[in-house]
Amino acid sequence: MKILHINSSSRGAESRSLQLADVFLRELQKRKAVEVDRFDLFSGELPEFGELAVGAKMAMFAGVEATFEQKAAWAGIKAVFDRFASADAYLINVPLWNNGLPYVLKQFIDVVTQPGWAFGFDLETGYSGLLKDRKACIIHASGVYHRSIPANFGSDFSTPYLSDWLQFVGLEEADIHQIHYAPTVVNADLEGIRQRVEQQAAGIASRF
Ligand SMILES: Cc1cc2nc3c(=O)[nH]c(=O)nc-3n(C[C@H](O)[C@H](O)[C@H](O)COP(=O)(O)O)c2cc1C
Repeated sequence: MKILHINSSSRGAESRSLQLADVFLRELQKRKAVEVDRFDLFSGELPEFGELAVGAKMAMFAGVEATFEQKAAWAGIKAVFDRFASADAYLINVPLWNNGLPYVLKQFIDVVTQPGWAFGFDLETGYSGLLKDRKACIIHASGVYHRSIPANFGSDFSTPYLSDWLQFVGLEEADIHQIHYAPTVVNADLEGIRQRVEQQAAGIASRF
């Protein structure tokens, strides 16, 4: 199994979601041969999806030739997509930031989610995902928010968004596993929470 591990925390060894992703991978590696390609989204490696890349994309839609600079930017986008598409499974660790996902993960999504590569479109039937037969484990971490907290303590738009995006590019809902390491900061029993999510990660790894 080839896993693309998308690390969208900036906190290195301090990251709770990354620590739990490492537990998941250790458990998985006890059971099967796994090749892991880790993509640290904050390393600076992820290309921008800015003027040149958008220009290349719009040139394609318009059926005109892209400029030399636009083509070079597009080649960088394609390289990230190829890395994404070459995996059979995804492990995404993601901190909750301002009730949503960190901007680097949205940037990654905007880079790889391209027509003809990640999805098709039909005027009659709409969108269809092209990345079939893949599975995913998403590890969320939030400092305060958790599912049973009162509304005034925030919300989580990251979980539904990531689930929706993975289905948009072709994964089945049943193949998307999500773990919520929450809360990681505001709770008296942080150790109990850590143990509970590590058990959950081991359980998912055993069936992954
Ligand atoms: C920029 C920023 C925004 C954050 N926003 C939220 C938030 O909206 N809700 C929340 O519960 N925690 C929030 N936190 C706390 C993080 O979710 C928490 O520290 C989590 O453990 C981060 O994941 P990590 O340890 O894997 O980096 C925020 C932290 C940062 C740095």
